[in-house]
Amino acid sequence: MTVQAHIVGWGKYIPERVLTNDDLTHMVDTSDEWIRTRTGIVERHIVAEDESTATMAIEAAHEALEIATLRPTDLNLIIVATATPDHLFPATACLVQDALGATQAACFDLAAGCSGFVYGVGLAADLISTGNYVNALVIGAETLTRITDWDDRATCVLFGDGAGAVILQANGSDGGVLSSVLGADGSGGDLLYLPAGGSRQPASHQTVSEGLHYLKMKGREVFRFAVRAMPAATRLVLEKAGLTVEDLSLIIPHQANYRITDASAKALGISKDKVFSNVDRYGNTSAASIPIALCEAVEQDRIHRDDLVVFVGFGAGLTWAAAAVRWSAPLPTAPLTRRKKIWYALSYRYAALRSLVRRFVRWLVARFTRE
Ligand code: ACO
Repeated sequence: MTVQAHIVGWGKYIPERVLTNDDLTHMVDTSDEWIRTRTGIVERHIVAEDESTATMAIEAAHEALEIATLRPTDLNLIIVATATPDHLFPATACLVQDALGATQAACFDLAAGCSGFVYGVGLAADLISTGNYVNALVIGAETLTRITDWDDRATCVLFGDGAGAVILQANGSDGGVLSSVLGADGSGGDLLYLPAGGSRQPASHQTVSEGLHYLKMKGREVFRFAVRAMPAATRLVLEKAGLTVEDLSLIIPHQANYRITDASAKALGISKDKVFSNVDRYGNTSAASIPIALCEAVEQDRIHRDDLVVFVGFGAGLTWAAAAVRWSAPLPTAPLTRRKKIWYALSYRYAALRSLVRRFVRWLVARFTRE
């Protein structure tokens, strides 16, 4: 029996604080008109001081678990796709695991820029098809505003923060993730990168004073790459699934710029209403943009059972990726009962307590043993 990976849970987290184009006009030499016409962005959300990629990822994971009605211990795999992890190590996926109490899950972060979430979906689906994993949580989460140079008008108007998650589950029935394509062209690495803070150029007073801890981008070149990569990856993933553009119900593309998604729709010969867009309200949230858009597409009744949905992204690396999914989860989802809500709240409290106890025991062992 072939095992397919089906999407059984999804969730998102958007930070509360909104930064509008008008707000940005007080920070850099720009205008609402320029940002809207060149990108389609109207506003974006920014993390609060006590939030991070992990805290947002955890919130999105809560929602996804509750929709899937799974226990955290049912998860065998957690992948966090991010370019802005809480730390270089440990992996943000491990922080998520600890907070959820997902004690049976293997965890790692995935660095593929804005394509990271789709890379994660493709990888998790392949791992599930081996029979070794049953439930995989794939999260895209970013705090890009923490690596944004707020004096650089060419980049600071583009980015926002947020997180989105899906749970993929092994199932013998047809549908779910039908195919995926993952690609990269490392020769374009310098078009979009974070110069300092890694082993090549460790953080120092000099790197900070030169602003090398901020994201650098050659926007025009990335744009040119994106308008080629998105339609090509979409066609390829459909071909791999034995389908064509005519079979498509909805494309959920990486939300970077409405001009890129419009150009992709044109190149594929499909109408714009088959391409989901919410870039106006969130800006570019990198690896988080596709799962956030997916959640909104579900909320807006844009996805139905048996629909063919394609996720397609491009980003730093350079990378690109697409996944074709036959939607199989029943919609709308039943709301959680009060009892279930209480169960989840208690289980997250228990996870926090468990983590504290384990830290305390480790401290005790270190204090009272010599070797
Ligand atoms: N306000 C006003 N003027 C601006 C601004 C601004 N915020 N930013 C740039 N300009 C000016 C430039 O200085 C330039 O002026 P000049 O002609 O006098 O030199 C002019 O506007 C045009 O600049 P371009 O960079 O050519 O503008 P373009 O139309 O290419 O739009 C943009 C720029 C929006 C960045 C576009 O190139 C783009 O969307 N690129 C793709 C970026 C992307 O998708 N990145 C995704 C990956 S992110 C990740 O992986 C983390």
